[in-house]
Formats: sequence, C-alpha cells, structure tokens
Amino acid sequence: MSYPYQIKSIEQYHQDYKKSVDDPDSFWGAIAQHFQWRKKWDKVLEWNFKEPNVKWFEGGKLNITENCIDRHLATMGEKPAIIWEPNDPNDRVRIVTYNRLHKRVCQVAQMLKNNGVQKGDRVCIYMGMVPELAYAVLGCARIGAIHSVIFGGFSVQSIKDRLEDTGAAFIITCDGAFRGGKDIPLKSVIDDALVGNNLVKKVIVYTRTRTPVSMIKGRDIWWEDEMANAEDQLEAKGPISFPAEEMDAEDPLFILYTSGSTGKPKGVVHTTAGYMIWTTYTFVNTFQYNPGDVYFCTADIGWITGHSYIVYGPLAAGATSLMFEGIPTYPDAGRFWDIIDRHKVNILYTAPTAIRSLMGFGLDPINGKDLSSLKVLGSVGEPINEEAWHWYDKNIGKSKCPIIDTWWQTETGGTMISTLANVTPARPSWATLPLPGVQPILVDENGKEVIQKDDQGLWKGNLCIKAPWPGMLRTTWGDHERCRTNYFAAYENLYFTGDGALKDADGNYRITGRVDDVLNVSGHRIGTAELENAINMHTGVVESAIVGYPHDIKGQGIYAYVIYQGHHGDDELRRQDILQTVTRIIGPIAKPDKIQFVTGLPKTRSGKIMRRILRKIAEGDVSNLGDITTLLDPGVVEEIIKGRI
Ligand code: PRX
Repeated sequence: MSYPYQIKSIEQYHQDYKKSVDDPDSFWGAIAQHFQWRKKWDKVLEWNFKEPNVKWFEGGKLNITENCIDRHLATMGEKPAIIWEPNDPNDRVRIVTYNRLHKRVCQVAQMLKNNGVQKGDRVCIYMGMVPELAYAVLGCARIGAIHSVIFGGFSVQSIKDRLEDTGAAFIITCDGAFRGGKDIPLKSVIDDALVGNNLVKKVIVYTRTRTPVSMIKGRDIWWEDEMANAEDQLEAKGPISFPAEEMDAEDPLFILYTSGSTGKPKGVVHTTAGYMIWTTYTFVNTFQYNPGDVYFCTADIGWITGHSYIVYGPLAAGATSLMFEGIPTYPDAGRFWDIIDRHKVNILYTAPTAIRSLMGFGLDPINGKDLSSLKVLGSVGEPINEEAWHWYDKNIGKSKCPIIDTWWQTETGGTMISTLANVTPARPSWATLPLPGVQPILVDENGKEVIQKDDQGLWKGNLCIKAPWPGMLRTTWGDHERCRTNYFAAYENLYFTGDGALKDADGNYRITGRVDDVLNVSGHRIGTAELENAINMHTGVVESAIVGYPHDIKGQGIYAYVIYQGHHGDDELRRQDILQTVTRIIGPIAKPDKIQFVTGLPKTRSGKIMRRILRKIAEGDVSNLGDITTLLDPGVVEEIIKGRI
C-alpha cells in the first residue's frame, strides 16, 4: 500500500512539479481530498506577498487531531503511533498505539477544558521528551488552543519573554527532564519565570524525575490527578472520546519562537490545514514512507523538526514515530545504533552536528549493532559537509540507503528542497530539487534574479521563494508588520529565506548558509543581535560583537569580542561571569565558545560594526581583510588580530 499523493518516479516528480506551478489550485485541491474535513474549502488559495496575506483552503473546517488520530482508528487502532525510548536504556520502552494515543489526547483535552482552557487560548509547554509532551500538543489542538512549545534548554528570561509575548494563561511542564546523566529541573525554571507574572492561572506538572518541586495552591496542579479525573468523567459517558473542536483552515495551530537578525525571537505562527497537508505530503514523499515502517527522528519537539516530523506529519500519515528522550552519547556513543538495532528502525532522520560528533568516536560504537533494517537516512538543520555525508552513507547506511538532505526552516513548516528517497538522485552536500509547490529563485542584493553563472558554472545568490506553499508561516504573533519586514520586504513579491545558495544547470540547489546576522550552532538558530544584547546585560560589558566561525562539530562556533570596563576578577573569571549571564538570559545553547576582550571594535565612521573583518579574524584568515581605511580607528584591527584566541 502507498499514499495516493506519493511520487513514485522521477518522471512523476517532474510532472507533479509542473502541475503544482501551473495550477496550484487543482494540484493542492486534489491532495487535500485525502484528508478528513468537517466541511470542504471554498477556495484553495488566495495570496499576496505585499501585506503579506496567504490563505489556503479558506472556508474549510477540520480538526488536525481527527486527521492525526481518529481517522486511523478503524484500520490501525492497535498499530504503534509512538514508540518511546527512555533516556535510560534499562527503563521501560512505551509503545503507544493509535487507540491509546486517542484515549490520552481525549483525556488531555478534557483536563484542559476542566481547567478553563478555551479555543484560541495560548498554552505554553515546557517539557522533556516524554510521550506526555505529544499528548499535550495534540490535546491543545483537539480543543483549538494554540500551543507554544519552549525547548527545555531555554532559560528563565526566554520563558518570561515567551509567556509575555503569547499572553499565555496556561503552562504544561514536568518536575524535571532526564537528558543523559543530567536531571534538568524544569518546574523550578518555570517557577522563576513566573515571579511577577499575573497572567498565568494554571501550571500542570507531569511527574517524570521525582525532583522535589514547589507547588503553589490554586495555581499548580498535578498532571496525574487531573488526567485521572478526566478519565473518570469521560468513562462515565461510555468509551473514552472527546469531541474535537471544529477549526477553520486558517485558525492558528501553534506559535514557535525563532531567532532572527534583529531583536528578540519572534513567534512564527502556523495555521491548521495548510500546515497539516504540507507536513504530511513532504513526510511521505521525501522519506518515501511506507505503512509499517519504523521512523526515528532524533530532534526535540521544542524545535520545528519535532513538531512537523515527530508529531504532525508522521501521525497524519498513520506512521510509527519513534520518540527518544535522551541524547546520542548516553550511556555511550552507540546509543542511536542500539536504538536502531532494537526497534528495527527503517528511516533515520538526524542532524549533521550529531553525525559529526558521533564520527569522533570512531567505529567501535557501531560494531556489533545490526543496522540492516535501515532503508533511508535523512539530514536536517544545517549544511552537511561532504566528510560527514560519506561517513553517514558508508558506516550507517552501508552504502545502500539514499541520504536525503532536507532544507527548510521554522517558517516554512516543512521541507522545501530535498532529494526524494530512491526517486530523485542524491548528491553529497546538495539539498538538490525543490518539492512540488516550491518555487525558489536566486537574487542579487537588489532583488534581481541572478542570470550570470560563476566560474564554476553555477548561479549564486540569496535564496527566495516566489509563490506560497501550504506550510508557510502566516504571521508573527502579535506583530504582523514584523513578519512583513523580516521576510517580505527585502525583495518585492518574494519570501526571503535569509540563506545563500548555489544552483546548477539541472536545477539542483546547494545551501551555503545564512547571509544575515543569524548563526547556526549545532543546528540551532541564534541571532547575533539577541546574543549581543544578552552579553551587554552583564555588568562591566560596554559593548560586544558576535560572529560565527567554522567549528568541527557544531558547524558554527560563537566568537564574542567584548569591551569590558571594571575591576572585578581576572579575564578568566570575567569570561565565566559572561557565560553565566548568557545562560540566564537565553540558555546554555547560546554560550560563546570564545570570548576575546578588546579595547575597541572596528567601526565605520557612521558607527556600524564591520563584522566582515571580525569574521575573518575569528576564522583565522587575516591575510586579506579588505579596505580598512574607512574605519574610525584602523589601529584597533591590529590589536584584535594580536589578541585572537
Ligand atoms: O540556514 C538554514 C539551516 O537552518 C535554517 C533554519 O533553521 P530553523 O528554523 O531552526 O530550522 C531548522 C530545521 C528545519 C535555515 O535557514 N538549514 C536547515 N536545513 C538545512 C539548512 N542548511 C543547509 N542544509 C539543510 N538541509
């Protein structure tokens, strides 16, 4: 059995691609027929990129959880929806069938209702990778509440900012989360974030680590008690079920915060129908998922990859999605391979940074592990370098599994450019071809299409998208103008991705990385402005400038140039203090790898920091710094080069 919208050959890919561009309405209208609607749409697509205003399947009514769960029950109720692998390999694996998932999600929906959550309310979710996180996300969607998952590595201040921005009155969290040898005290972080917050009415706490937690009467409640109540209530009415809220196609499904080149992270808003169809369509086609396959995505649900390709896409396709609580190196560097062996995983989807870090342990952790169940390998989050690609291909895929390098973003909802496994050809470090519905274009700084090839015979430019696809962001929460200026104002009538890319004569794309002031550290997006703000909050820091530099494992490392004035401690202590400040303001993921103290920064006469120069110095390439005579104080460059770490 396969899916009616599954692309089976390269000829079909080209045909479908053409159809999707020539007549998007009938192309996507036909695909949408294969989903469950309460009421069909009036119009497939309406759009302009000026405002922007993008609407897919307007007038359509549905609930995404009926598509992810209910419609599978009759035929696949006892099939595993989620296989949950705990942090500690000696703990119990949990197999959540579609029937069980349905029951739990209905209970969550009832629990949320009992606590006053209504359609349109925002619910922040701050949990470890436990099945209850998936139930929480889907429970929100069931009653039409908008979830905003916050990655467990974010700190107090980041949570405060997100709570304030979403105006959330409800939080779902855990006492703590297990990650490798660590026990992360999530509830305690939430408690700190709630100091002075008058908006949050309820905090639901799931018990995972049995870390002692403070529970405030009237506000903090236990997940277990609430779920038991909900179960009793629902059982009193017969077999457990909770009616799904009827949602408009364009009702918001979730908000997910992501960093940009300016200001605080913005809340990317995805809506219901288009996102559902895009994640399902891309999941089935890129991985060429077939019913029964065991699919393992190693991402965290705190990031978009987990939303789209652990929860929504796979479940809407009726797939078996393996969810892992821990980290690749615990209890040892063979953990992924052990999981693949024990659960007979067919499809593995992971990040280049994980591959590079595991490469460093050599082949011992792989030896003795049976990886023969693997059929397809995926990569996401950053450009995959050729060395890592070949290692992945040879040692994990045993040279028989296609590698799909999926390029996409939080804003795109799902994969945009990727090889389709066994259908279109892969090529090391190239994302290759756009999915049907995706119309990329490379432009120069003025927004003109790049016509001239470079000396390698490739087109090189800033990657934009010409027309809407169903999974694209619709707005940024609470600030539509910010969405416009961030993505649609750089170039007229184009969505600007922030990435640079190369294109060859066959239409293949290779993503070269961000062209804006955004870093990609271990596949995590970090805005330099946001990080500089955090560093500047430290007493004694006068000014700072952040740049990225090539890092063997993380892809990009963070290099901070800091002007410090004060008498406290020596340089090493000051460095540690700055790291503590960053950890408090953003989270440990944003900690700079290197901090160099300087007395000045290279600035133009108008006061703009010349990052180009700082980047070159951080990269260790000082042979050609370009013209520095326009600098306010050219002497500072010499000093910075000498002090380079
Ligand atoms: O620079 C691109 C890089 O990650 C950015 C998006 O980050 P985020 O929104 O956090 O989403 C990550 C997971 C989809 C992009 O602008 N990126 C993502 N995938 C790739 C990639 N760069 C190169 N190749 C990829 N496959």
